[in-house]
Amino acid sequence: MAQPGYDAMADLYAATFPHPFLTPLEEHAVAAFADTVRDRHADGPVVDVGCGLGQVTAFLAKRGLASIGIDPSEQMLARATREFPHLDFVRGDATLEQLGVDLPIAGILARFSLIHIPPEDIPDVLRCWASRTSAGTPVLVACQISSHAGQVEQFDHKVAPAWRWHPDRLAAALSGAGFDEVWRAVSQPDDHHRFAEVHMLATRR
Ligand SMILES: C[S@@+](CC[C@H](N)C(=O)[O-])C[C@H]1O[C@@H](n2cnc3c(N)ncnc32)[C@H](O)[C@@H]1O
Repeated sequence: MAQPGYDAMADLYAATFPHPFLTPLEEHAVAAFADTVRDRHADGPVVDVGCGLGQVTAFLAKRGLASIGIDPSEQMLARATREFPHLDFVRGDATLEQLGVDLPIAGILARFSLIHIPPEDIPDVLRCWASRTSAGTPVLVACQISSHAGQVEQFDHKVAPAWRWHPDRLAAALSGAGFDEVWRAVSQPDDHHRFAEVHMLATRR
């Protein structure tokens, strides 16, 4: 579960990304997810998978949701806990095995964190999510987009090994684990983004 890259880069990462969202679209996508969760009135917190510095966990809490951040990097979590002492953060990974099995989960968000998991392991991770959620539970996944239709490709991320997914491939992986795509928001590369990016909302079947 070690994340040596993020442990070593936590301070630089925080200095480089002082705000959780680089574009209004990112913020609106997360806000739309939060509103979808809130409108269902389901029990349990939203889990922010790969929460990093905890800024999005805090954004969700500000929108009235109980939220928990989970991340394998001790140093990213140390900063998150320092910045947001009133929120819950857990050291763990995307399988959610480190969260109590009896904890109901109202929603799952994973922004630019599943990119660090080898693609062959993603189906298992998503099956873990399915086993922890009930029908209708929303999940939001964000990642850099592969330029090749239907493909996953590794890219030279500065902190840790990473893969970018074509949205159709991501939707297929989610579907295979029991989550149906509801919408996707795609942004094109610009001066601050080398790659196109997708935020995809899906719900548990
Ligand atoms: C690019 S940062 C994104 C942080 C945050 N989600 C955001 O949107 O600002 C990627 C995060 O994913 C975490 N991560 C890496 N491998 C992971 C895994 N297997 N499970 C969960 N999180 C992981 C890293 O420690 C890091 O904090």
